[in-house]
Amino acid sequence: MTPAPARLLLRDLAQLATPARAAAPLRGPALGEVVVLEDAFVLCAGETIEALGRMRDLPALDGDVVELDCRGLCAIPGLVDCHTHAAFGGDRVDEFSLRAGGASYEELHVAGGGILATVRATRAAGEDGLRAAVELHRSWMLREGTTTFESKSGYGLDRETELASLRAIRAAGGVPTWLGAHAVPPEFADADAYLDFALAEVLPEAATIAEAADVFLERGAFDARQARRYLEACRDAGLALRLHGDQFTEAGAIPLAVELAARSVDHLEATGEGGIEALAASDVVGVLLPASALFLDRPMPPARALVDAGAAIALATDFNPGSAFCESLPLVCSLAATQLHLSPAEALAACTVNAAHVVGRADRIGRLAPGYRADVTLLDAPDWRYLAYHLGGRVVARGVVGGELR
Ligand code: NIG
Ligand code: FE
Repeated sequence: MTPAPARLLLRDLAQLATPARAAAPLRGPALGEVVVLEDAFVLCAGETIEALGRMRDLPALDGDVVELDCRGLCAIPGLVDCHTHAAFGGDRVDEFSLRAGGASYEELHVAGGGILATVRATRAAGEDGLRAAVELHRSWMLREGTTTFESKSGYGLDRETELASLRAIRAAGGVPTWLGAHAVPPEFADADAYLDFALAEVLPEAATIAEAADVFLERGAFDARQARRYLEACRDAGLALRLHGDQFTEAGAIPLAVELAARSVDHLEATGEGGIEALAASDVVGVLLPASALFLDRPMPPARALVDAGAAIALATDFNPGSAFCESLPLVCSLAATQLHLSPAEALAACTVNAAHVVGRADRIGRLAPGYRADVTLLDAPDWRYLAYHLGGRVVARGVVGGELR
């Protein structure tokens, strides 16, 4: 890491590409509007973008300026991963191998594997182990161009480990979300008894660390009544609301998200026409996680229908050890183009400006514009659309985070 110089000039960029509009969340045709400048520069002053434009319009700069030769590179906004589960111990590579042999994700969960296997490993990791894990996962994400990440807790499900997870996420610079309702841990008889505990014993302190709360509303996890109880308590404690919904079944996540004015409802692989219409008529963002659908060999979410109906969407990795061991937003953009039928421009906006909205930061990250934070991802490509085009390739050259070259 190079400490932020007073000014950093990214010069001679093959292209600079940024979502055109700031009015997040973008939807409809605005989602696909990208400004592309050829032969461009970005000038960073401290942590902020001071100016950008075509090289021929670069003003004479006095004083100390560090210059980076960006010939052959493209600049896009630092990518924003608005849905990850980075705070976990252990792995699920054995389960992955079983699934490759035909076992289903839901069967493994019912048999005490799945999320609960990671709960055991996460409780055993301790706070230092969790801090090291989140830091490692953050470094993987940065290598893939992610300069801001959200991460959920949800693999502790006891007071100590949930709070340690949230602190570890914050310590690594992530945006913490309390996923206190992810699964019912084995020491509780049922979901209601667990929620009695979580809301009384964990929420008061979780609300001082986290920015949002999330719930897994699904058959075998929490039902709509329990999700409402959890989310209303979290809202009253000052947290923004998110939901995991319609991953396997439609169990009321979209109506609840709309009613409670949640920031987002995430997954949507099982969403039908009614859900598409309801989401499109609301301000709730649909966060699409195609790497998770791919990893579990599930249907892809109806992304094209959502966008065409006017819904606001974002894209994220869902990085976690069970359903999406994938930290790469460029790969997610490739899936968006090939499987979700989004244009590269729509995919870019979905994991920059719209994802920034989902984490409550659209006023300062997610676009390249003067006054925004100097978070820039440099692509090793002659055209910015290689972000989606280079399937599984090493498309990210390096990043600038708050004006610091990484
Ligand atoms: O978003 N669906 C629920 N939670 C995670 C997966 C958790 C896991 O399998 O460990 C998800 O897919
Ligand atoms: Fe998730």
